Amino acid sequence: MIGIFDSGIGGVTVFKEILKLTPNYKYIYYSDSLNNPYGDKSKEELIEIVKNICKYLVNKGCKVIVIACNTASAICKDALREEFDIPIIAVEPALKMVYDNDYQESTLIMATYGTTHADRFKELYQKFDNHKMQICDCVGLADLIERNSSKINEYLENNLKKYRGVKNVVLGCTHYPLIKEEIKEVLGNVKFYDGSRGVAKRLKEVLESLNIEESNGEIEFIDSSNNEFKKERFYQILGNNKT
Ligand code: DGL
Repeated sequence: MIGIFDSGIGGVTVFKEILKLTPNYKYIYYSDSLNNPYGDKSKEELIEIVKNICKYLVNKGCKVIVIACNTASAICKDALREEFDIPIIAVEPALKMVYDNDYQESTLIMATYGTTHADRFKELYQKFDNHKMQICDCVGLADLIERNSSKINEYLENNLKKYRGVKNVVLGCTHYPLIKEEIKEVLGNVKFYDGSRGVAKRLKEVLESLNIEESNGEIEFIDSSNNEFKKERFYQILGNNKT
């Protein structure tokens, strides 16, 4: 069994890519809506939260865990890898992808405050900066997406209009691919980059190297606050081929 977690339903954007490459395994998706949002938590608090999720997933029988949250990856990946002796695969903002594919172009990186202030993000930024990159800390945006709020368009107009003219947008939070169309309404026909495909490829390699048995592709959904609305949205996003 493979465990995937996020602060809510954003990680489904990663899970969908995973299912394209490795559909025939048993998955458990953990949405931590009780502790959502992660983006404004302190490092200590977040490490404690995600360690407990991983313990839970390991006890359920998970042999591999995917952190489908850029914030938790940036802040907690090392602590989790030290604590657990199973492979832990972490999504990251796709800065390398832009560097490899679109080095000449101007790029906006959208991510949570927690992500952009983490040492790991600073490392990535220094390594792959093309001197045409701007960072937008999208404080509160993941939460609006999580609640499917009607304020998303207004938020984007207010916070993104100053970046009009950029060619690329790195979606550095797994919730953001859910609002690509809304982002385009403000920034025009930008090119999006995110880390989900990379995670799916890495997971496939790990599953093959561990010889984990394939199964019927059973999916279990768990929400930490037992919120029925989350479950509904999870299956709705999973079944929708727009993202
Ligand atoms: N999906 C998480 C991420 O990729 C959301 C963060 C949050 O809960 O603030 O960063």
